[in-house]
Amino acid sequence: MKKIKFQVVTLFPELIQSYLKDALLSKAITSGVLCVDVTDLRPFSDTKYKSVDDTVFGGGDGMLFKYKPLASALNSVHIFKKGNSDKKVVYLSPQGKPWNSSLAKEWSKSEEIILVCGRYAGVDQRFIHHFVDEEVSIGDYVLSGGELGALVMIESISRFIPGVLGDQASAAIDSFEDGLLEAPQFTKPQSEDGFTVPAVLVSGNHQKISEWQKKCAILTTLKKRPDLLARRKDINWPELQDFYKKMNPEEKTLLGLDGLLDTENK
Ligand SMILES: C[S@@+](CC[C@H](N)C(=O)[O-])C[C@H]1O[C@@H](n2cnc3c(N)ncnc32)[C@H](O)[C@@H]1O
Repeated sequence: MKKIKFQVVTLFPELIQSYLKDALLSKAITSGVLCVDVTDLRPFSDTKYKSVDDTVFGGGDGMLFKYKPLASALNSVHIFKKGNSDKKVVYLSPQGKPWNSSLAKEWSKSEEIILVCGRYAGVDQRFIHHFVDEEVSIGDYVLSGGELGALVMIESISRFIPGVLGDQASAAIDSFEDGLLEAPQFTKPQSEDGFTVPAVLVSGNHQKISEWQKKCAILTTLKKRPDLLARRKDINWPELQDFYKKMNPEEKTLLGLDGLLDTENK
């Protein structure tokens, strides 16, 4: 059975622990496919008043996590070997590599990931230099701490571990699998408020349904995230244009695909 271990180093352990009570993750932890250990940074303070931060050399109002408490916390959870591909040390940082689904999938093959959450103005650069294998950012904005990033990483990676999701097959058509957004979906009843589910989805013809889903996934991606399609060479545009032309206008509107391939040059 594939297992993955996360070690989170944080000054606010309860932020991580409370989220881990979420049904899906706590079930995965109980069943043993996922292990998350949370290490409180505070006890690794080297001062009388248990502080872990200090002012920044060169000025500025902020405080930085000091090297020593971080280094001691890390040494307590990790037999240190930078560059060990099975055990990554990650510092959550707005300056890091942008996080995405393909990294989550790739990293789900790791044995152990140590996630270090900064706070205040960040951490002493010597810690990054000496310990950190990767810096990861969850978006181009600045948060007050790395805990949300750590949770984003844990949850997005865990979804790729067999046994974490109830229905692994449905995850295979989730957005970003195959580089596309997922096609629009519907549940019962078949008609609601004058809007009816596209006929093919209730036809019972699985091949037709899957072709429809694939084409609508491409169209949805083209509409919402054309950047994802920029380098794809495997899309049959004339066939897609033909499919789009044959869609009835109400369906195009319902699926949010109005005005998409109406020009001849697509
Ligand atoms: C206020 S931020 C520090 C930002 C830092 N002074 C800078 O400008 O690069 C405090 C902590 O939040 C976390 N953080 C903030 N934004 C993040 C992001 N976009 N992705 C991941 N972690 C982030 C980091 O752990 C960081 O140490």
